[in-house]
Amino acid sequence: MRLVLAALGAFVAVSCSRPPETAVTATGATAPLYNADLDVNELMLHVMEPAAYDFWRGWGIIYTAEGTRDISPRTSQEWLEVENGAATMIAATNVLMLPHFVRKPEDEWYQAAKNLADIAKAGKDAAEAQDKQAMYDLGGKLDEACDACHDKFQPPELRKP
Ligand code: HEC
Repeated sequence: MRLVLAALGAFVAVSCSRPPETAVTATGATAPLYNADLDVNELMLHVMEPAAYDFWRGWGIIYTAEGTRDISPRTSQEWLEVENGAATMIAATNVLMLPHFVRKPEDEWYQAAKNLADIAKAGKDAAEAQDKQAMYDLGGKLDEACDACHDKFQPPELRKP
């Protein structure tokens, strides 16, 4: 009995400290719990950056010889695309926090990802409310949140000039 309790205690301790990275499938095989085929760079290029461009379309002005032209979203469909970009970034930051993707120092990595997720969530709400001014303010903050993580974690050889 004591042995069983001790074993149970160990199991609880292990399962509480860290989510498992593999799962046993219906056929009894062991499979990774999530897909880790994309590396951070690919996740950025194929998910994060396109989503950020959709987000930044939440506010826009073009300056011409005749004056300024507002190219911010007009239709519900255009606002929905901005909201989709914000939601995609929230999901992408969750991926960045999975063990396979996390870089050291881990607390700074998590903080950088969380900053971005908070801005994306505020942007999702602003897009839902079709609030151009908020999208303008958040667009600037988003840019800074991307740069803050890149300054810290992007290897110099992978940086664009
Ligand atoms: C939590 C950290 C983190 C955040 C936040 C982050 N990135 Fe990245 N990003 C990286 C790292 C690290 C790399 C370099 C890839 C590598 O080291 O494997 C990278 C690379 C990139 C690249 C490819 C390289 C390049 O410069 O062209 C793009 C594009 C990119 N990020 C866009 C973004 C955008 C846009 C945002 C914000 C909306 C963002 N990233 C937010 C960590 C982050």
